[in-house]
Amino acid sequence: MDTMQGLRRTKYCGAFTAEDIGKEAVACGWVQKIRDKGMLVFIDLRDRTGILQLAFDDASDAKLRQKAQTVRSEFVLMAKGVIRRRESVNTEIPTGEVELYVDDLRILAKSQTPPFEITDKTNVKEELRLRYRYLDLRRSEMQHALMMRHKIVKVARDYYDENGFLEIETPNLIKSTPEGARDYLVPSRVNPGCFYALPQSPQLYKQLLMLSGYDRYMQVARCFRDEDLRADRQPEFTQIDLEMSFVDEEDVMTVNEGFIKRVFREILHVDIPTPFLRMPYAQAMERFGSDKPDTRFGLELQDLSDLLANCEFKVFRGALEGGSVRAINVKGGADKLSRKEIDKLVDFVKTYRAKGLAYTRLTAEGESSSYEKFLTPEEKAAIRERLDAQTGDVILIVADSKNQVVFDSLGALRCELARKLGLIPKGVYNFLWVTKFPLFEYSEEENRFVAKHHPFTHPALEDLDKLESDPGSCNARAYDMVLNGCEVGGGSIRIHDQELQARMFKALGLDEQTVQERFGFLMDAFKYGAPPHGGMAYGLDRLVMLMLEKDSIRDVIAFPKVQNASELMTQCPSPVEEKNLRELCIKVDLPE
Ligand code: AMO
Ligand code: AMP
Repeated sequence: MDTMQGLRRTKYCGAFTAEDIGKEAVACGWVQKIRDKGMLVFIDLRDRTGILQLAFDDASDAKLRQKAQTVRSEFVLMAKGVIRRRESVNTEIPTGEVELYVDDLRILAKSQTPPFEITDKTNVKEELRLRYRYLDLRRSEMQHALMMRHKIVKVARDYYDENGFLEIETPNLIKSTPEGARDYLVPSRVNPGCFYALPQSPQLYKQLLMLSGYDRYMQVARCFRDEDLRADRQPEFTQIDLEMSFVDEEDVMTVNEGFIKRVFREILHVDIPTPFLRMPYAQAMERFGSDKPDTRFGLELQDLSDLLANCEFKVFRGALEGGSVRAINVKGGADKLSRKEIDKLVDFVKTYRAKGLAYTRLTAEGESSSYEKFLTPEEKAAIRERLDAQTGDVILIVADSKNQVVFDSLGALRCELARKLGLIPKGVYNFLWVTKFPLFEYSEEENRFVAKHHPFTHPALEDLDKLESDPGSCNARAYDMVLNGCEVGGGSIRIHDQELQARMFKALGLDEQTVQERFGFLMDAFKYGAPPHGGMAYGLDRLVMLMLEKDSIRDVIAFPKVQNASELMTQCPSPVEEKNLRELCIKVDLPE
């Protein structure tokens, strides 16, 4: 193998332009492609910035040309020569006007034939890409994503710094912070039988920093949550986390609108209008069936309940006790949604616990409906009027005695329909804040109220009196930042008063001893002068994913995990040696 001795790279491959013509240059990188035409040999040399063509011809030294002919894909080369104008200009790539006419070629490493070709777009299975992630990351698509991610973090650090925020690191080995998900635990060797938790977020530490007077804090923070993975969730992910003192909701939202404006302007050259729309949670559910509404398309939900109060159809009337009947009118959908397609939609809503999906197709040839035969002509007409339904439209209805089921199923159906019918415009970034969240949600599983955001969120000021008497009706001083139907960030104004925090824990069904054990330090801290404070955290991975219009956060993370929380390249998690376990006083007791 050759060495680099005596040569030093002068520029990255992608940086050469017509201005370099006539200059001596040294380039290095990986072989993308070789074209061997006997007396003419061309090699495309690739690095993270682009491609430079290396050229050898009949005037080249014969040995040098022969050496070039031995090169294969993914070999690592260093080449010295003179930049010259190309015979045939390639307008597809920025360096397409020039080539390096080589007089010294070094083969620095050979490569086996890779398990898949390193190309820009690929249809290779993700599993294979992840097993050989180091090769996958050579693809320009991945490199572009990671470089973009870097830039977003840099803009974040700059922006928050310019606005008076200090980046302060908080520990990763901590006492468990209940954020709703399960903790990852780390056994302590020196304290056998005791465990650290990896942080689900820096929540309590950042609140304590406010108490210590740091006033504006930010951190690019790694978070760990042992929860079921989805396309927009990883067990470890990154937050841009921040907290501010002496602020209300508007202050936090305004600073963060400024950040989004800046990041989109600098990186995508897109102007995001501010302030963002603020939509109360109740309205988001009513109109979009979701607390993270995608407002890039219509298909809004309509409540039909009041029209059906006396209706004979059991499915509808039965739902009205406690629930509702709601509909979507798919304008002009009759052409695109055949009976068969609608049957698929029925199965789709069932995965969201809906018991069925009633429909009416209004075609020019007549209409077909699964429910109209059960209704009076007046009810039928009233529904159509409410939905402004005309020939060509399809009405889709879900009825359920639980509103949540109606919202979940129609909310998901609306997004599915938009995807199917191609109603989602590209290059549109619809930001909004969802506000006025309920403070609690009732957990059927645990038979008690749990915090909707987290237990440190301040109740709405007008609801303070109802914390004990009617917790279900209390709102929170919480806000989520939503982009194109995805929650990119969320936060709240916090409780900074020991007494109110104690009432909150009580409302959550935590007894005093548990509170003392788990949050004693926080309750103590509140005794020493806590300023009013609030903040939020972005899911950085999600933000990058949406900015790049990717479908999965795995595409913007260098080494992501898959569905079962394993990493395919290193094959972790994996068993450890008996000796390690003994040191930790841990015995593994696997179920049969
Ligand atoms: P929350 O739990 O809403 O709030 O998290 C903030 C943001 O982090 C992102 N996120 C995730 N991204 C990838 N994978 C995951 N598993 C995952 N879980 C969450 C989301 C979410 O909006 N401490 C509070 C913030 C605060 O109140 O200041 C918190 O962590 O984009
Ligand atoms: P059935 O009388 O059960 O055959 O139902 C008549 C129509 O109502 C069918 O199209 C069902 O899919 C639909 N349907 C049943 N349950 C529901 C429900 N909970 N919400 C909406 N439509 C339903």
